[in-house]
Amino acid sequence: MNPSIPASVPPSRASLPEVVDPTPENLRRAAALLREGEVVGIPTETVYGLAGHAFDERALARIFAVKARPAFDPLILHLPRFPWPGVWDAEALDPPGREVVERLARAFWPGPLTLVLPRDARVPDLATSGLPTVGLRVPAHPVAQALLQEIGAPLAAPSANRFGRISPTRASDVAEELAGRIPLVLDGGEPTVGVESTIVAVRPGGVVELLRPGGTPVAALEARLGRAIVRPGGAAPSLGAGPRGTEGAMPAPGMLESHYAPGRRLELLPAGARPAPSLLAGEAPAALLLQGPATPAEAEARRRASGARRVRVLSPSGDEAEAARQLFRALRELDALPGPGVILAELAPRDEGLAHAINDRLRRAAAPRPPVSPPPDSSPPAPLVRPGHPAGEPPGSGHE
Ligand code: TXA
Ligand code: MG
Repeated sequence: MNPSIPASVPPSRASLPEVVDPTPENLRRAAALLREGEVVGIPTETVYGLAGHAFDERALARIFAVKARPAFDPLILHLPRFPWPGVWDAEALDPPGREVVERLARAFWPGPLTLVLPRDARVPDLATSGLPTVGLRVPAHPVAQALLQEIGAPLAAPSANRFGRISPTRASDVAEELAGRIPLVLDGGEPTVGVESTIVAVRPGGVVELLRPGGTPVAALEARLGRAIVRPGGAAPSLGAGPRGTEGAMPAPGMLESHYAPGRRLELLPAGARPAPSLLAGEAPAALLLQGPATPAEAEARRRASGARRVRVLSPSGDEAEAARQLFRALRELDALPGPGVILAELAPRDEGLAHAINDRLRRAAAPRPPVSPPPDSSPPAPLVRPGHPAGEPPGSGHE
């Protein structure tokens, strides 16, 4: 068993998981680990995932332990293709509901969309946190696809960060996040989308409800359906108003308000605004994060006006797709700057397209954080199987 590794201490080289190219041999290795109940880091087109066999309770328990994720936060099942047997219960939806599922699946899978559907009784309770529904998605990333074909079964995969932290968009981020906890990361390069999938629930009557904005714009879903998607809370969330960081939260199970949190405090700026002194609470800003568009001169002027030491523009041309791809990497880099100070992050003026997902992640990163209370056993679980070594400790022992 590895000793506890405090979050602030950089992992030693020895404890880093092996990061490997997705060669056929390494895909077979990853599949073999997954069949033994182990978990591995995998690339998807949205963010890196922490994958385990969806029908192996050992693997599911391990995902929760490795991420230090509370058991009430359900997992997404990644399918090799759709339809796939034994994952959702079509009979529990009416014909209009089934028609909506067909339509969305045909139009958006494989891709960055998760459908929350009535579950099949065979899906383990651990995967759904005991809910009557299950989250499903068919990922588009060729490496995720190749691994799913190799293993021939659904993989449960949350984002490969420790719970509540920034989602990883590089294999090296996964290795650092989960050092000493997993044996292997498949390196598939940087994602083409960069923010997590959009999550919608399909209800009887074909009602579609937005649970999390993400890589598939809501407007694209609405165009395909020919009608509006229900946004919890009714009207579009206001920007910059209301209690700090609480705007626009999605009331889905596990969709905690505080999430995607860097180590530094993050404060939101309404579009185009200067930071109010009260916002900074006496702390000089370390960095200013702008979504763009912004020329270098504009960005520099904004930096000076804000008092920040650094400015980072996610997309100088204002291309939302580029901004989404850059978001999590930029947050990690700004978090790692030397010295103290908050990150100021400017919201896009409207919750539309990919800016909707970016605004959502920034609001959660800025949300008040729960007091830190270590779980009863905060030791990271050691990998079940060390690469090239026989199985170690029994699955899931002592970590729940
Ligand atoms: O793009 C993505 O979705 C990435 C990649 C790895 O596929 N995965 C991801 O997983 O973002 P995760 O676990 O970080 O976030 C999934 C969220 C959970 O927080 C949970 O709230 C929601 O999906 N979810 C899963 N099943 C659900 C269900 N049955 N009902 C409501 N929400 C559900
Ligand atoms: Mg996540």
